[in-house]
Amino acid sequence: MSIESQNVTDYPNSNTIFMVWKLHENASQLKDVFQRLCALMLNLNNSAFNRFPDSRASGVMGIGYEAWKKLELPTPMPKELACFEEIRGDKHTAVSTPGDLHFHLRADNQSLIFDMSIEISKLLNPVAESILEIHGFKYWDARSILGFVDGTENPHGEDREYFAKIGEEDLQYKGGSYLFVQKYLHNMAAWKSLSTEDQEKVIGRSKENDIEMSDEVKPANSHIALANIEGENGEELKIIRDNMPFGNPSTNEFGTYFIAYASTFTTINKMLTNMFVGNPPGNYDRILDFSTAKTGTLFFVPTRNMLDDFAG
Ligand code: HEM
Repeated sequence: MSIESQNVTDYPNSNTIFMVWKLHENASQLKDVFQRLCALMLNLNNSAFNRFPDSRASGVMGIGYEAWKKLELPTPMPKELACFEEIRGDKHTAVSTPGDLHFHLRADNQSLIFDMSIEISKLLNPVAESILEIHGFKYWDARSILGFVDGTENPHGEDREYFAKIGEEDLQYKGGSYLFVQKYLHNMAAWKSLSTEDQEKVIGRSKENDIEMSDEVKPANSHIALANIEGENGEELKIIRDNMPFGNPSTNEFGTYFIAYASTFTTINKMLTNMFVGNPPGNYDRILDFSTAKTGTLFFVPTRNMLDDFAG
């Protein structure tokens, strides 16, 4: 049978619900619920595809390191599945926060993912507690709340598959992915106090038309100068990002839910180190002076075949 991945390479759409759950210790029905959850995820995806093909709906489930152990899933584990170790720079820290199960529910039609999240929550409530729920949305032409277009340099075509999914290096988990998420809150007052020109220097691209600055002009501490990394042989290393803005204007809470899928967590970790510690150390990412990472959690995304096995 061919390997079928979960929908990690889908393109961003208009609405997203992110949920992170923590499993109760020693819940007696834990394994039984997890079996039914795996079946439910396959069912929800198949049903949405069949009923509303134009809505581009999908639900991707990721499993954290602690959960893998609690659920006694197969050993050896996926090679890079571990608790994310915080990255501490002189000024900013990529914190590490707990999370057992992560759900990334996407659709153009919000009702669809709302109902998906209800079904998942109904099943999980007796054995787990919800520790994060964020409803993200496409803001104008895919802009972050900071006003800059987000997602432009994501890979496409074969590159998208290659950079998102585990290959021959971990045969048992081929077709799976690593998933890393961070909830960022933006200091909008500080951000808005910058001129557009200064904001552009923070990102490394123009605000209105989303054009990359030339290397001569782009500051070394701009976001894209530090996030754009190469391998030992000069090859570009990419990840698949599907960040979503969220916000509650009445409480002045505005943020970006950073989400990335990758064939190897090493690439994401290198980008984070560049951003938080800096490259060279001390030359950290200026975007962090306006955006604080409140969470940081690593998950593994099994293939659909694995979900089918887990469902029994
Ligand atoms: C506050 C959180 C963040 C915001 C608002 C943000 C926003 C942006 C924007 C506006 C761009 C330029 C357009 C694009 O190519 O997408 C960008 C590029 C990029 N970001 Fe972020 N980003 C955030 C966090 C991160 C983190 C944590 C990582 C990696 C761990 C990352 C990795 C990248 C990469 C790889 C690029 C493309 C660089 C290139 O090849 O030009 N971003 N981001």
